[in-house]
Amino acid sequence: MRILVIGSGGREHAIIRKLKESPKVDKIYAAPGNGGIAKDATCVDIGVMDKEKIVAFSKENAIDLVFVAPDDPLAAGMVDTLIANGIRAFGPRANAAIIESSKVFSKNLMKKYHIPTADYEVFDDPAKAIAYIEERNKYPVVIKADGLALGKGVIIAQTQKEARDAVKEIMEDKKFGDSGNNVVVEEFLTGPEVSVLAFTDGMVLEPMVSSKDHKRADDNDEGLNTGGMGTISPNPYYTPEIAEICRKTIFEPTVAAMNSENRTFKGCLYFGLMITPDGPKVIEYNARFGDPEAQVVLPRLKTDLVDILEAVIDERLSQLTIEWKEEATACVVMASGGYPLAYEKGKEITGLDEDGQLPSVEIFHAGTKLESGRFFTNGGRVLGVTAEAKTLDEALDKAYAAVKKISFEGAHYRTDIGRTK
Ligand code: AMP
Ligand code: GLY
Repeated sequence: MRILVIGSGGREHAIIRKLKESPKVDKIYAAPGNGGIAKDATCVDIGVMDKEKIVAFSKENAIDLVFVAPDDPLAAGMVDTLIANGIRAFGPRANAAIIESSKVFSKNLMKKYHIPTADYEVFDDPAKAIAYIEERNKYPVVIKADGLALGKGVIIAQTQKEARDAVKEIMEDKKFGDSGNNVVVEEFLTGPEVSVLAFTDGMVLEPMVSSKDHKRADDNDEGLNTGGMGTISPNPYYTPEIAEICRKTIFEPTVAAMNSENRTFKGCLYFGLMITPDGPKVIEYNARFGDPEAQVVLPRLKTDLVDILEAVIDERLSQLTIEWKEEATACVVMASGGYPLAYEKGKEITGLDEDGQLPSVEIFHAGTKLESGRFFTNGGRVLGVTAEAKTLDEALDKAYAAVKKISFEGAHYRTDIGRTK
């Protein structure tokens, strides 16, 4: 098979590495890919939103399957366009990807189908949002832009002033553009967070092994929200009892709810959960693999990923048994100094696989460039250094030992991945 993966981050690198293990795969392309991906696939210079070029490339190169990994092209209907052109594609159609691209949609879906989530109200008028927040007078309060905002559209306001500023930034200053035309104001929940990704063909849902992201930039969960600074799998808080509650009250009802709305979801459905004192609740849905969740979940997959992708597309997931390794995994993200705010690019990276890394370590490239055989930083999140071991502690020790061998000017990483709630 000839496969095209759309995207350019660490998640896409992890997907490509797993696809490479499949005996069914002859050739992998990435659009646009990155420096590290270039070692595992052929990178083609096509943007993730460029439907026309992706269709043309797929036809010209006899692509058998396109894996659409990022949120933006899914929300924009990339999968619909590919299918309309007779090209097989993995990922939800736009009418199902809305479960991620509109928080108003997903909150209303959960309310209608009694899926546990934080209490909320929706506003299209900033004055009304502020009046509600002031009357409610309970802090912290959570304010979310309706649409996609690079993982930055959620503000946890500790005071009335912070809440007012958040509403103003999102709805009046339009910090996230049209994503802020509507806001969700919701109850602040507490408890450990768990990410559960699941394959679904619209009938059957197969949860993958659990994971835990660390979204804040600095140790002790301080600093700004990022796309994710590190992950572990499994998530120690996700016990078999919690998993069973999630299956019954969240996972299966979500698949059924999407079907009832004529928005059948096929692809990877991501449940961002919080284990609150009242039980597990949904914080958010994503319509795709998480980044850097994919970097710890996919290395644990034993079953051929191509078989799973085809079973999802052909709606025969029920016929497949998906197997996972017992080993634990940990991923530490190395970022450019300054990320998630402004940062410099173009710093040379040393200590990568090519320079002799540790065994059972995989380095997924997120933002790198390959020039004359040397790697340079080219993004905020640069690398996801991932290790596999018998226990989580060992995996973490190994990932950090690998991180210590790598250097580039200004490199920043958290030292407490897997050690915080
Ligand atoms: P999201 O972009 O929706 O994943 O939200 C980013 C982060 O904000 C989540 O991972 C949580 O840590 C936090 N968060 C979102 N909603 C809530 C909530 N209702 N209560 C507490 N924390 C929240
Ligand atoms: N790591 C969180 C996300 O991919 O949305």
